[in-house]
Amino acid sequence: MPELKSVTNTKLIFAPNEKFAQQANLTPEKYNELNQKAITNYAGFWGDLAQEHISWNKSFTKILDESNAPFYKWFEDGKLNVSYNCLDRHVLKNPNKTAIIFESDEGNVRKVTYKELLDLVCRFANGLKQLDVKKGDRVIIYMPHSIEAVVAMQACARIGAIHSVVFGGFSAKSLAERITDANAKYLITADAQTRGGRNLPLKASVDEALKILSLNNPIKKVIVNKRTKEECYFNEALDIWWHDLIKNQSDICEAEIVDSEHPLFILYTSGSTGTPKGVQHSSGGYLLGSILTMQWVFDIKPESDIFWCTADVGWITGHSYVCYGPLSVGATQVIFEGIPTYPDAARFWQMIDRHKVSIFYTAPTAIRALLKIDADLPKQFDLSSLRLLGTVGEPINPEAWMWYYEVIGKKRCPIVDTWWQTETGCHMLSPIPGVSKTKPGSCVSPIPGIMADIIDESGNTGKAGSDGYLVIKRPFPSQLRTIWNNPGRYVNSYFPKDIGGGKYYVAGDSAHLDNDGFFWILGRIDDVLNVSGHRLSTMEIESALALHPKVAEAAVVSKPHDIKGESIFAFVVCRGKARPVAADAENIAQELRQWIVKEIGPIAKPDEIRFGDNLPKTRSGKIMRRLLRSIARNEDITQDISTLENPVILEQLKSK
Ligand code: WT7
Repeated sequence: MPELKSVTNTKLIFAPNEKFAQQANLTPEKYNELNQKAITNYAGFWGDLAQEHISWNKSFTKILDESNAPFYKWFEDGKLNVSYNCLDRHVLKNPNKTAIIFESDEGNVRKVTYKELLDLVCRFANGLKQLDVKKGDRVIIYMPHSIEAVVAMQACARIGAIHSVVFGGFSAKSLAERITDANAKYLITADAQTRGGRNLPLKASVDEALKILSLNNPIKKVIVNKRTKEECYFNEALDIWWHDLIKNQSDICEAEIVDSEHPLFILYTSGSTGTPKGVQHSSGGYLLGSILTMQWVFDIKPESDIFWCTADVGWITGHSYVCYGPLSVGATQVIFEGIPTYPDAARFWQMIDRHKVSIFYTAPTAIRALLKIDADLPKQFDLSSLRLLGTVGEPINPEAWMWYYEVIGKKRCPIVDTWWQTETGCHMLSPIPGVSKTKPGSCVSPIPGIMADIIDESGNTGKAGSDGYLVIKRPFPSQLRTIWNNPGRYVNSYFPKDIGGGKYYVAGDSAHLDNDGFFWILGRIDDVLNVSGHRLSTMEIESALALHPKVAEAAVVSKPHDIKGESIFAFVVCRGKARPVAADAENIAQELRQWIVKEIGPIAKPDEIRFGDNLPKTRSGKIMRRLLRSIARNEDITQDISTLENPVILEQLKSK
């Protein structure tokens, strides 16, 4: 069992908000009924919900197929189109309802209705078809957080193409890696994205990625959305402007009807080893998860709510709670291209005030950063439109939770701390507002139908008051179907034999179950870091460092950080001469940071780099990371070091 982080404030508890409960989608009775049904009739529970919430072109007769576990199939013979469910069915009822309120970095606002969004999607989808994009083709989307990114994703869904969005902050090299793994033939990008008052080129990274791939480049066409006044290189043979592509396209594009299990998208995420994993999601099951969590966890009231999830479409949160969730329930949402601190730290509060946001969903790292800059700043704005607050991506410390609750939510708004993963597609553990009691820092309990639990290695269920591996014991509709191109890795990563005997979905997190039945996420059990809610692999950063000509060896550990949750601490052994010191060390550290930005992206840049003549290793040559973790945290080394081959190295690594 990994080391236990302190679990704080398990005694501080808030009763469900009564006023909220009177209007909530899920009443305690309904909630209990759902939970009961999931226990007594698991397949029927999901089948009825899928029937009720999804518009199927052909209804399913089979609910769950477990015959080839863990390759589960849901609603297998059902047929649907996800984009139809997100757009057409709302246009039929209420075409002029606002779908998206977009605010750019510089503060320009553009609104599109459901009808307008459907037209944009259809014209672009027809453009894709003209370029010969076919059902099942992979399309990389490397775009700013924008209406156009949503249009591109929805257009892929409309024609049955499989999108793979790559976060705009990833480097050319990371982009190239993903293009290769997905074997994508098409790429959709923009000249640049604008964040924090600066234009950050995207097309230039695409060109560089294609250069890296050179003869192995599978990309046949690059679609470029022009957003800034800046010049960008344009290759007539390969590139096509977005505006030229859609110029003469019809705004009618019949949605391609696909099987429920047809892959909707691939999204790459970091694992503990090797290259990023292409998490593959389905159409029907994923859509169901997005819809239900919008209803249950966010308590969405499409007719009156203004929903705002601040996550970029490059992450799963932006897939499920920007592109698919809000649209599938016909809600109005805000999309913001910029950053929370530009032009100043009031931006979020100002936008909530301006757009009358009622449901606000963001990351603890943003809350901590804004709280630290000026805890009283939100008081200058009218935040009375808010009725529900949410967090995602990492544990929220009770102090930040309390500030969010008191200063932002004015003690009126329930907080939903949602635990889930790229792989689960949508929320798994979360309070249900109006129903659940909450404790600051706890993600409370599994939502209806999710059979989450904690177990030990042998698969024994953890008792209240203990820690264990967080697992989900029954398959659920929104879970990943496989790792793209790598079914073996899917089985080994998520259904490992050594934890629970391969029977359960093993999340990779450990959790504490307290005596009141509340879940507390303790952290990853593998070498995955969580920096500002972004998931990174220590191995990936180490491998990138080792590629630098000056580096002989590197080990990366994390260290707790006030704002980012975790920060990245790298130990590096240089090639040749003795370890660099003073200015020399600073220069090389700077060079290595820039290197990481190029190799992976700015989010993976080490906060601290320490040089040594060697790393602490066992006699068999294994790096003793737990010692490095202690050094990074400035802790006394209390661990057993009897197997350590070179104890003197510890003293050296302790000093800069
Ligand atoms: C990992 C998944 C889910 C969308 C964003 C991250 C951590 C996520 C919480 C939370 C504590 C959390 C876990 C998980 N995590 N939400 N509410 N409390 N930890 O998705 O990049 O796939 O990362 O983020 O460690 O395994 P992801």
